[in-house]
Amino acid sequence: MAQKDIGNKIPIYKLKTTDEVMEFYDDWGDKDKYNKDMIDWDYTGPKETVNTFKKYTENKDILIFDAGCGTGLVGKELKKFGYNNFHGADLSQTLLDSVPKNLYKKLNRIDLNQSIKVDDSFYDAVTCVGTFTYAHVKPNALDEFVRITKNKGLICFTINEGIHQEYGFDKKIDELEKKNKWKKIEFFKSEYIASKDVNAWLGLFEVIK
Ligand SMILES: C[S@@+](CC[C@H](N)C(=O)[O-])C[C@H]1O[C@@H](n2cnc3c(N)ncnc32)[C@H](O)[C@@H]1O
Repeated sequence: MAQKDIGNKIPIYKLKTTDEVMEFYDDWGDKDKYNKDMIDWDYTGPKETVNTFKKYTENKDILIFDAGCGTGLVGKELKKFGYNNFHGADLSQTLLDSVPKNLYKKLNRIDLNQSIKVDDSFYDAVTCVGTFTYAHVKPNALDEFVRITKNKGLICFTINEGIHQEYGFDKKIDELEKKNKWKKIEFFKSEYIASKDVNAWLGLFEVIK
């Protein structure tokens, strides 16, 4: 899909390398600016994702990996619905430092474009919101999410609509289905950051092992 006019959009569209992305978020996280902007922009990604996730996960004790947790907006939503056992990981130490204390059981700095240092089938579920976007995390991370998730575990994520085809997320999602690595439960266009005319695909897949 061709990129829309970016006049009203977020400067992430100009980023190219992982180092640039990290510096960008380290800067954005300063003085709580990221969180303030998300409120101003009515960013609904975390809420929409957890609303979808909770429909399929009654057990609130499951161990969840929040990949690209940022300042913990997904963790806050998970907590709201009674989930109490989740880990977070992110590229930006500044954002990790601003996550509310005791929200996540564990927080790690990570580059999700590298292999994840976690055993196979360790987590019951993975959430990944806002992190599949321009210059951020590439489709191969989905292979890693499948690897670290248990049989019948859930992977719930957003993909910025502008990169879904351009970066090959469409192909990776199909490949994982054809190889019987996961089964689609939901996949729909979500609001995401509608105030900025940015929508995202929201997917929920069940892992098959
Ligand atoms: C739009 S923010 C979303 C953060 C959070 N999930 C939320 O919904 O507010 C994108 C996040 O992806 C992280 N990120 C970008 N590239 C990454 C990478 N290669 N590995 C890990 N995290 C990355 C950024 O640091 C940032 O926290």
